[in-house]
Amino acid sequence: MANITTRPVTKLGIVGAGSVGTALAYAALIRDAARQVAIYDIDSARAEAEVLDLSHGTQFTGANTVTGGGNIDALAGADVIVITAGARQKPGQTRLDLAAANVRILESLMPALMEQAPEAVYILVTNPCDVLTVAAQKITGLPSNRIFSSGTVLDTSRLRLLVAQSAHVLMSSVHATIIGEHGDSEFPVWSSATIGPVPIREWQISGRQVFTDELLAAITDDVVNAAYKVIAGKGATNYAIGLAGVRIVEAVFQAQNAVLPVSALLRGEHGISGVALSLPSIVGSGGVYKMLEMPLDDGEQQALQNSAETLRNTMQNLGI
Ligand code: 2OP
Repeated sequence: MANITTRPVTKLGIVGAGSVGTALAYAALIRDAARQVAIYDIDSARAEAEVLDLSHGTQFTGANTVTGGGNIDALAGADVIVITAGARQKPGQTRLDLAAANVRILESLMPALMEQAPEAVYILVTNPCDVLTVAAQKITGLPSNRIFSSGTVLDTSRLRLLVAQSAHVLMSSVHATIIGEHGDSEFPVWSSATIGPVPIREWQISGRQVFTDELLAAITDDVVNAAYKVIAGKGATNYAIGLAGVRIVEAVFQAQNAVLPVSALLRGEHGISGVALSLPSIVGSGGVYKMLEMPLDDGEQQALQNSAETLRNTMQNLGI
């Protein structure tokens, strides 16, 4: 009989054993997204405890293993690495307020990660994820398709939830996307949003238009401020970003070529270059294959340029 090998087929590496990293690991186990989940955190006691706790539940998940600890070689040979480590927003802080501290962390982290997993696809979740994507790409020199961020995948889920609740339909029947910065300048593309095949502004319940300008503005506001609300109540957001992050990991591991609003370096899309922000993008085994240009009305074009400008200013202040 041939020797039984335990070599994992897909290895997901997670940097950071805090509330986001562990929610991501838990989601990966529950969704059976990776054969091996490896967690690394400089706080080795914390990382080891989280690994133990998660691994104690693997009888009830797929054929997964959980490994890791305080040594970065836990991530050796990972196929996908998700970075969640870094300073996080305190109540009242914006995502952009974290930029300087988290760029500094990447300066030492990225070269060390590249030694362990030179072939990996890298996904940044740490904020401000758009700015950090460009910083990490410059530090590593990786092609921009292999280093990108979760962008507005989570914000788009928040948007679809609110639209689905008002329309009284299943979330997956809502086709609407948040694009731009994962932050205060993000916005929904209402001009092409539909519920099933029906343009959102034409959606009616009992003969009355549901999505008035007032409701669309209120939903936009709710999405942009969603994280602040959660942070005010519990100090951080973690479960939803864990699920959103794993959704992207699945697109890579399963070579799905799924269209997801991740954030990667733009190269002339909508006339924008040199910044990373979210556009619907094709995500598969090699990472981001293509960022899609979509029809935008004049206000949306302007909002996208504004988002790019906001990010460009932050990068300039940091010398990125
Ligand atoms: C979120 O949107 C804080 O970026 C994090 O939940």
